[in-house]
Amino acid sequence: MRLTSTLVTGASSGIGRALALACAAPGRTLHLSGRDPARLADTEAACRGRGATVRTRTLDVADRAAMQDWIGDAGPLDLVLACAGLSGGPRRGEAGRARQEDAEQIRRIFAVNLDGVVNTVLPAIASMQAQDRVDGVRGRIAAIASVAAAVASPSAPAYGASKAAVDRWLVSNGGAFARAGIQLSSVCCGFVRTRMTESNRFPMPGIMEADRAATLILRGVAAGRRRVVFPWWLYAGARAMDLLPVSVVEALTSRQPGKAPQGT
Ligand SMILES: NC(=O)c1ccc[n+]([C@@H]2O[C@H](COP(=O)([O-])OP(=O)(O)OC[C@H]3O[C@@H](n4cnc5c(N)ncnc54)[C@H](OP(=O)(O)O)[C@@H]3O)[C@@H](O)[C@H]2O)c1
Repeated sequence: MRLTSTLVTGASSGIGRALALACAAPGRTLHLSGRDPARLADTEAACRGRGATVRTRTLDVADRAAMQDWIGDAGPLDLVLACAGLSGGPRRGEAGRARQEDAEQIRRIFAVNLDGVVNTVLPAIASMQAQDRVDGVRGRIAAIASVAAAVASPSAPAYGASKAAVDRWLVSNGGAFARAGIQLSSVCCGFVRTRMTESNRFPMPGIMEADRAATLILRGVAAGRRRVVFPWWLYAGARAMDLLPVSVVEALTSRQPGKAPQGT
């Protein structure tokens, strides 16, 4: 897979940072974004240390105009990785009331996890459509969905819905764009040790380090997978669970604790 020029959102932390580092090497240019300038500068320094040319932009992926400017100005792109994301679950219900997500949190999760991916993918497609094919491919785009896309869970309703939308959107478009030379991949990964999961207070089967996740993501994207899935058994379990009657799934998941909210 050619990696002369790679663009990563959410590069200031976790999986995005690990992907940026995995792509950093002499002769390669990285376009990296995040919101936190100090964390982004830290990733920038680490990637420069590996010999890459690095350009950073502090921005919010929900800002459509800023994303259009940034990606439109980046020049030719071999690989675009949409990693920026936000998680959160419902508050504990007051006596006699359903536990529910804060309204602002719901809107923010959709704005970052869904609009943010659209704001990344559409300008990336526009750039790549003008690029020549190398080995049949003009460019590759991957967004991090989640195993949470595969089954409804009361522990993170808006998060799961945002990831399901990202996964379905990318996979539905995959065949048509592949024929036009643009490869789309949805990454349905399980638990990864990052800031997002550090305050989860429930078992996280199969949790892995971010650099291992980055290796698996890049391997799947290089292989041209429409959906990159790991660990396979967690994803398969979620898909199988989704085939059960909703009442059974509700009974199995009703006691799941909510995902810890993140700062918005
Ligand atoms: N960790 C897991 O177990 C897991 C599992 C499945 C899927 N995922 C997905 O993987 C992706 C990366 O998450 P992570 O685990 O690496 O979490 P993380 O360490 O919290 O990193 C999240 C990244 O997204 C950026 N971000 C958040 N909101 C943003 C916004 N509005 N505009 C621009 N950037 C924003 C953060 O920037 P700042 O540093 O500037 O805040 C940070 O770089 C997310 O899409 C997440 O949903 C994670």
